[in-house]
Amino acid sequence: MAKRFEGKVALVTGGAGGIGAEIVRALIAEGASVAIFDNNSKAISPLVDSLTSEGAKAIGEVVDVRIQSSVERSVNSVISKFGHIDILIAAAGGSLGTPRDLDEISSEDLDLVIDVNIKGTFHCAKAVIPSMKSRGGGAIVAFSSIGGRSASPVTGVPYAAAKAGILGLTRRLAREVGADGIRVNAIAPGLFLTGRLQGMFDAMSEAERNEVLDAIPLRRMPKISECVEPVLFLASDASSYITGTVLDVNGGRMMAN
Ligand SMILES: NC(=O)c1ccc[n+]([C@@H]2O[C@H](COP(=O)([O-])OP(=O)(O)OC[C@H]3O[C@@H](n4cnc5c(N)ncnc54)[C@H](O)[C@@H]3O)[C@@H](O)[C@H]2O)c1
Repeated sequence: MAKRFEGKVALVTGGAGGIGAEIVRALIAEGASVAIFDNNSKAISPLVDSLTSEGAKAIGEVVDVRIQSSVERSVNSVISKFGHIDILIAAAGGSLGTPRDLDEISSEDLDLVIDVNIKGTFHCAKAVIPSMKSRGGGAIVAFSSIGGRSASPVTGVPYAAAKAGILGLTRRLAREVGADGIRVNAIAPGLFLTGRLQGMFDAMSEAERNEVLDAIPLRRMPKISECVEPVLFLASDASSYITGTVLDVNGGRMMAN
């Protein structure tokens, strides 16, 4: 089978995280050169070392996506190394350990969640768009969540606001850069059991796990690859006439109108 990303350069933010690292590996397997931006310095170097030792074209930058100047500096360094950027997967985000219940949520918690998810996505998109324009096009995949598509009891108000905000960002940006051949879409995963979440799920009673599964028409938890493949679809030419949309990947737990 032809490799979908041969000759392409992809930037994956949150690329050292549970879903991000799997996206990185899948892009590399399909021929891409990949730059990983993550603020987890401990995770990024072993990941890049293992990828390059397997022959991958991969670089890692310790970047806090909340800081525009640092994003711009690192994007320039990726362009010096790989020449251009064709794909941005903006996966850095999450509820970032902030509380779920209103009484416990501080203004700082709200700032953190909005800044990493929304500002981080904005900074990275803004920084890569000039390179995509000069290439005649590109693809951006932003990370929303089922928690931004519905009133999920699992995460709190800041996360819901941030992930709903990603949808507005996606649509408005798609409108702005469509004429440059740049597509902007969002993915909205349901619950994927990466690291910490797997531990939480395993610690639940059987009754609690069944309650989670009862809400999912497909009646099973997904594999991480079941989030990766839809992201790759949105990043690839297979979705060449799709922009400004959101793809729900949740086993049917939330069905949009
Ligand atoms: N796992 C799920 O069930 C799920 C569901 C819906 C949406 N999502 C979204 O998918 C994305 C990836 O989630 P995940 O489960 O892999 O989480 P994760 O915590 O494993 O990965 C997130 C990565 O983002 C990085 N990061 C955090 N703050 C950053 C910052 N300021 N600058 C740069 N990097 C930063 C972290 O170091 C981490 O490596 C997130 O946007 C999350 O909200 C996940």
